[in-house]
Amino acid sequence: MTMYQKQQQEKKEKERTALLSLLEEMLDPNVFGMRPCVHGGDVQRTAAELGIPWREMIDFSASVNSLGPSPKVLKAICDNLWQIPFYPDPCSELLKESISKHIGGIDEGNVIVGNGSTELIWLFSDILLSDSDKVIIPAPTYGEYETAISKKGAKPIFLNLDQEKEFRIVYEDVIDRISYEKPKMVFICNPNNPPSKVIGREEMLSIVEECARKNVFVFVDEAYVDFVDKPWEVTVAPEVNDYWNLFVLHSMTKIYGMPGLRVGYGISNHEFINVLERVKQPWNVNCLAQVAAIEGLKDEDHLRKTRKIITSGRKYLAEKIESFKSLHLYKPEANFLLININKVEMTAAQLKGKLARKRILIRDCSSFRNMDRYHVRVSVRTPEQNQRLIEALKITV
Ligand SMILES: Cc1ncc(COP(=O)(O)O)c(C=O)c1O
Repeated sequence: MTMYQKQQQEKKEKERTALLSLLEEMLDPNVFGMRPCVHGGDVQRTAAELGIPWREMIDFSASVNSLGPSPKVLKAICDNLWQIPFYPDPCSELLKESISKHIGGIDEGNVIVGNGSTELIWLFSDILLSDSDKVIIPAPTYGEYETAISKKGAKPIFLNLDQEKEFRIVYEDVIDRISYEKPKMVFICNPNNPPSKVIGREEMLSIVEECARKNVFVFVDEAYVDFVDKPWEVTVAPEVNDYWNLFVLHSMTKIYGMPGLRVGYGISNHEFINVLERVKQPWNVNCLAQVAAIEGLKDEDHLRKTRKIITSGRKYLAEKIESFKSLHLYKPEANFLLININKVEMTAAQLKGKLARKRILIRDCSSFRNMDRYHVRVSVRTPEQNQRLIEALKITV
């Protein structure tokens, strides 16, 4: 490097430092400590690093419907391209109608639609929380809860789930922690990601009731509920009118196989939904996503087909993974499986790297709180793809 180049570099570095301190002075102090949440499904980046076309990767790291969207959804998208030059319905009214019929026991006023369900986690935190509010978050669980609340300066209280109990959320532990900490709200992911464990409907309602008595909001994230064997024994969505403190989140990106389109919805009492509607951004869900979601809800055949391959695929993967001496499987209840690899002589990151070179992408779980470097998560995919995963594991672990 020449002297001139060195001087230029030093000048740039000084300018950068000055800008950073200016931003630190001017911006909300909460945002400075924030780190983006790590997610599965980073197919494009991983494939680019390996020099592989990303369509050739089999993505076991994101737990979405491996059949993709229903062909009827794709047709509806093509038939409605004419809508693109118009603004979409700002509040997704037609979609709300379809959602309320689909859930049953609620009406359109109980529903808010988001640009993916993650938007609603952020919106919820935005209107409910302020500096130093306490929020109970079981760990491990979906990482966006912590990121969203930290923007508001709220304080996460982690309820560390016990590995001996297969990371199951235990009713008594939740209630004890709530009584002791007196938080403003609690997040409960059901089925929980990544442990793939379910809390039954009755038990969940007892938590909601106890929290109502203690003035605590309960955010129940049911993003994966349609993948469990008997969703009606798990979901509390139809009960929102009976509890002032219950908000239920559903994702349409998972079971309807359209994460690229971004649709999710929240269900709660009319008054709370009303406040959220006043604060949310207009036109948050694009016209094609609204059309696709309405069509997806109609196609029950596609849903039945999906459930069938999930049930048989989960059984197949569980049996095969349990037959590996070096792998420990936590009994799965959703469309993804959490595996302890600590008997294999490599970390989750190393295993992920080896499988990626075979065009198979898995989720290294070390970024989750209360998870070590030896846990991975894989989703249930088509029978052929599940078989490819098992073949690849056979020669890798
Ligand atoms: C538990 C859980 N909730 C919500 C989401 C968000 O999904 P989306 O924003 O695609 O609806 C995810 C995504 O991984 C998740 O795992």
